[in-house]
Amino acid sequence: MTSLSLKTRDVEAKMAASLSTKKFWKPGSEGPGISEERELSSETTGSPVIYNPNTALSIEKQRQRLPVFKHRNNILYLVETFQTVIIVGETGCGKTTQIPQYLMEAGWAAEGKVIGVTQPRRVAAISVAGRVAEERGALVGHEVGYTIRFDDCSDAQATRIKFLTDGMLVREMMADPLLKKYSVLMLDEAHERTLYTDIAIGLLKKIQKKRRDLRVIVASATLDAKKFHEFFNLNESGDPSKDTCGILTVEGRTFPVDIFYTISPVPDYVKATVETVLKIHETEDDGDVLAFLTGQEEVEKVVSLLVEQARTLSRYGMKKHLRILPMYSGLPYADQMKVFERTSASVRKVVVATNIAETSITINGVVFVIDCAFVKLRAYNPRTAFESLVVTPISKASASQRAGRAGRNRPGKCFRLYTEEDYEKLPAATVPEMQRTNLAPVILQLKALGIDNVLRFSFLSPPPLRQWFKPWSCCMRWEAWTIMDV
Ligand code: CDP
Ligand code: MG
Repeated sequence: MTSLSLKTRDVEAKMAASLSTKKFWKPGSEGPGISEERELSSETTGSPVIYNPNTALSIEKQRQRLPVFKHRNNILYLVETFQTVIIVGETGCGKTTQIPQYLMEAGWAAEGKVIGVTQPRRVAAISVAGRVAEERGALVGHEVGYTIRFDDCSDAQATRIKFLTDGMLVREMMADPLLKKYSVLMLDEAHERTLYTDIAIGLLKKIQKKRRDLRVIVASATLDAKKFHEFFNLNESGDPSKDTCGILTVEGRTFPVDIFYTISPVPDYVKATVETVLKIHETEDDGDVLAFLTGQEEVEKVVSLLVEQARTLSRYGMKKHLRILPMYSGLPYADQMKVFERTSASVRKVVVATNIAETSITINGVVFVIDCAFVKLRAYNPRTAFESLVVTPISKASASQRAGRAGRNRPGKCFRLYTEEDYEKLPAATVPEMQRTNLAPVILQLKALGIDNVLRFSFLSPPPLRQWFKPWSCCMRWEAWTIMDV
C-alpha cells in the first residue's frame, strides 16, 4: 500500500508541476500530467442554436425530409430484432427528434410504457422535448416531457416520450432498479462519453441481462460503433446470427476531403489561422471556410484580425469579399444564426468557431476547414481537487470529424496547422471522462445502487487502477480500500 500511495503522489506532483507551467502543449508531446485528467467537457460545447432550413414547410414535410426518415422501417426492424441498436448519423439528421416518435408510432409506448431519451446536457433535454411536443401538436409535460434535476416537466401517467439527463436516469434507477416503466432507452450523444453516460451504459447492460424485453439505442454523430457493439453484444456463442446488438449508419452526404499538413510546426496557431484564411481566399476557388479554435477569446482575436485584413483587401479591389463570422456558445442567439445565412456568389463566408462546430452544429457550404489541433477541455487536478479549462490536443477521431465538415456539399480541403508527424502522435480518441476524473461520485453512486464490488463493474472504458487510489479525502480513501476488500 505504501509503495502504491508513493507512486500516486509522484504522479500527482508531476501533474501539478506541468499544470502550473504549461498552458498548452504540442500535439503528441506529453500533456500536463497523466491522460486521465483530460476531460471531454459537455459544458465547453455549450448550447448551440438549432438551425432548421425547412421551416417554411409543414411539420409533416419537415419530418419526411430528414435523412433518418428513409431508415424508419429499418430502425424499427433493428429495435424489434436486437436488444441494443447503435445508430450513427450526422448532426441534424433526425436521431433525437424522430427515432422516439417512430418508436411511439410503432407501439413501443403502449400499455403505459415510456420511451426514454437521455441527453448529457440539461438545455438539450428541454429544447428537444419542446421540439418533439411541437411536432406532435402538444404542450410539453403531457405526451412528451422532460426530467432534469430540480425540474420535472413530465406526467407519470400521460408521458410516453421522456427526455432526461443521463444523470437523472441513474437517479431513477435508485427507485426502480430495473427501469420497469421504460420499454426503450435511447442514450443520445453517446460520443461525449460523460461520466453519467458511461455509468448508465454499464448499468443498462446489467439490466438487459435481467430484462430481455428492454431495448437500448445508442445514438451519436460520431462513434466507435465497433467498441459499443462488442460491449453490448451478449452473444457468447460466436455465431453472428445470435448477436444481440445491431448497428445502423445513417449516411450523410460526404465527399472526399484532401488533407494538408504544415511542413514544420506552427509557433502561433492564431496567427497561422489568419494567414491560412487569407491564402485560401487568394488562391482557392469558391467555397466557405470554417476555422476551429479553442475558445471565445481566440475566436474574437482571429475575427478582428481578419476584419482588418478584409478591409485592406477590398481597398485593393479584390473581387470577392470576405464575410467573417464568429461562432461560440456564449454568442447572442441572433449572431449565432448568422453563420447559417446564405451569402451571395461574390462573398466568401468565413466562420471562426470553437469546437461547437465539430458535432453540435452543421454549417452547409463549407469547403475549406482549418484545424488548429487543439480543444479546450475541463481538467481535474486531484491534488487540489479543482477543475479548470485546459487547452488540449485533439484526438485523431476529432481531427477526422473536423475535416469531414469540409466535404458535406462537394469535395473539400482541410488545412491542418500541424505536421503529419504530430498528427500521428495524437491519441486515437479522446479519453472518456470516466478515465480522467475524480471517481468518488462514481463509487458512491454505484454503491448506492447496491453494486458492492465496484472494481468488477462492467465499464465500457474501465478507469485505470491507480485512479481508484487518489486521495480525495481520508474518508474516501478508506471507502476505496473497503471496496477493494469486498
Ligand atoms: O439528433 P440529430 O442531430 O440527428 O437531429 P435532431 O435533433 O433530431 O434534429 C432534426 C432536425 O429537426 C434538425 O435538422 C432541425 O431542422 C430540426 N429541429 C428544430 O427545428 N428544432 C429543434 N429544437 C430540434 C430540431
Ligand atoms: Mg441529436
